[in-house]
Amino acid sequence: MKPKTLNLKLTIRPAKLTDVPRMMPLLNDYARQAEILPRMEADVYQSIRAWIVAEADGRIVGMGALLVLWGDLAEVRSLVVDPAWHGYGIGRKIVSALLVQATELAVPTVFALTRQAGFFLKLGFSLTEKEKLPRKVMKDCVFCPKFHACDEVAVVYSTGGVPTNGR
Ligand SMILES: CC(C)(COP(=O)(O)OP(=O)(O)OC[C@H]1O[C@@H](n2cnc3c(N)ncnc32)[C@H](O)[C@@H]1OP(=O)(O)O)[C@@H](O)C(=O)NCCC(=O)NCCS
Repeated sequence: MKPKTLNLKLTIRPAKLTDVPRMMPLLNDYARQAEILPRMEADVYQSIRAWIVAEADGRIVGMGALLVLWGDLAEVRSLVVDPAWHGYGIGRKIVSALLVQATELAVPTVFALTRQAGFFLKLGFSLTEKEKLPRKVMKDCVFCPKFHACDEVAVVYSTGGVPTNGR
């Protein structure tokens, strides 16, 4: 489907500390709907270097983070776009910016756990099995209340980078 046309200036950029209070409402809204895991404000401040935001009309309308798990693996997480701005290609631009970061860091594999697999497949990710991501499973999934009834699928993207350490 052709992306909707955006008539406002859209900026995709690394997040700043001053963005955090403007990021939290969208993160909290989606966490309440259980679309993403809850993020504490302190956690967002502490991980600010990991975040990319989309700003339009002076408002934060989307964001996402790249979390490095190991020398060969990073995760796209907390990817959200304001519902009023869905379909304008903003999610794609945020993920592209995160993949550029992953490539610059030489992380060869980027994954996401998601219920929106169709979106990630459009962006060049492919389906995989969660069991192939043991670092994620052991770090987070085993502590998740939905561990035995997980409704997310795993998707991976290969940046072509060289791993600095084995899995
Ligand atoms: C998933 C999400 C980030 C997509 O953001 P968006 O800005 O609306 O997406 P884009 O406009 O960049 O879409 C890029 C492409 O993916 C497609 N797409 C978007 N959502 C899709 C979905 N759920 N299933 C299949 N395709 C989808 C678009 O049609 C577009 O395709 P095109 O290139 O052929 O035009 C947004 O729907 C969202 O915030 N969802 C709720 C939070 C969430 O589930 N986040 C993911 C957590 S891992």
